[in-house]
Amino acid sequence: MINIVIVGYGGMGHYHSTRIKTLPGYRLCGIFDIDPERVRLAVGDGIRAYASKEEIASDGSVNAVLIATPNDTHGEYAEYFAAAGKHIICEKPASMTHEAFDAMAAAADRSGVKLAVHQNRRCDSDYLTAFSVIDGGKLGRVYRIDSRVMGANGIPGGWRKKKRRGGGMMLDWGVHLIDQICYAGFTAPKTVNCRYSHALGFEVDDGFELTMLFDASEEQKNRYFPEVEINLEVNTNAFIKLPRWTVFGEKGTLTLDDFETGGRMTVYMRTDELLLAEQRGNGLTKTMAARPESGVRSIAVENLASDYNRFYTAFRESVENNAELFVKPGEVGRVIRIMETAAASAKKGRTIKFKD
Ligand SMILES: NC(=O)c1ccc[n+]([C@@H]2O[C@H](COP(=O)([O-])OP(=O)(O)OC[C@H]3O[C@@H](n4cnc5c(N)ncnc54)[C@H](O)[C@@H]3O)[C@@H](O)[C@H]2O)c1
Repeated sequence: MINIVIVGYGGMGHYHSTRIKTLPGYRLCGIFDIDPERVRLAVGDGIRAYASKEEIASDGSVNAVLIATPNDTHGEYAEYFAAAGKHIICEKPASMTHEAFDAMAAAADRSGVKLAVHQNRRCDSDYLTAFSVIDGGKLGRVYRIDSRVMGANGIPGGWRKKKRRGGGMMLDWGVHLIDQICYAGFTAPKTVNCRYSHALGFEVDDGFELTMLFDASEEQKNRYFPEVEINLEVNTNAFIKLPRWTVFGEKGTLTLDDFETGGRMTVYMRTDELLLAEQRGNGLTKTMAARPESGVRSIAVENLASDYNRFYTAFRESVENNAELFVKPGEVGRVIRIMETAAASAKKGRTIKFKD
């Protein structure tokens, strides 16, 4: 049984509480928050509020904590609760630097407790669908993948706009999008080029465009070109939405519209129909004319089903049966190092090599 306390009962802490209450093998022991308003809310929700971290540490009935505080406080709590012998789920990004994460992981190792970082978007069905379509082969070998998330709400919340508190979209959404790419097998970019957006005038990035080039591994070569371009984009000031995913293969293109609704792939068909030049704008073109109708096939793509409880189940399995963690510390550290390389590229204004 995972007897867990949630540290930080804000938006995400509350969300975790609603999920955990329904999970077999979990018992929500309580929460801890420094904001009396959030404490009142928890008590109103029928949840015990711990008065301090010391009270949680000394409660022998608690064997795990879930850290859902602002990003600059994760390390301090993780090291404290590791020393107290509590297993840890930590929200993403686990930390703002790879050194800080290494210290968290080392503290967990020293105390023999599990440290699992909540990279939940590995289970997003749009993500699973995109890579399953690639593996299915209908697109031919893939040479470019665009993954983007777009909103028009700016950056919500106070701490998210502060650099020293770990705000900014790279640390917020970049960590998810990069983790998805690494988890799909693209772990070591050759080069990284990143441009941060400051369109909204905050001290932190309100979005970014990140291009990474990868060499396909031997195992990937039947599905990918030898060199694969992966573009990640986060935009918080876009009043329209471009597709969540666009995947370019030699024989077709896939678009998935958003997180839920799926999309379509348009694939190459051999045709004897002639390609005719058309007027497009104020000129004539064959290159940009529509492909003859018999020369393409459009296939609807539905999102795959996904087990949204997988992270929690795997954490319980790792605590109770020493099973492998779903999100391993080495994977977390790597994503943080890619984010650091992206930040360095944005600062220098040029492409830089990723040091593995
Ligand atoms: N994995 C995901 O999908 C996802 C989604 C949203 C947020 N998050 C992560 O969850 C964490 C929290 O984000 P949020 O959106 O819930 O923020 P939030 O501001 O809504 O909540 C943070 C809570 O922590 C409390 N808090 C602040 N400092 C504290 C401290 N020192 N000790 C105890 N409590 C403290 C605040 O009072 C607040 O209630 C962040 O790390 C964020 O990146 C993850």
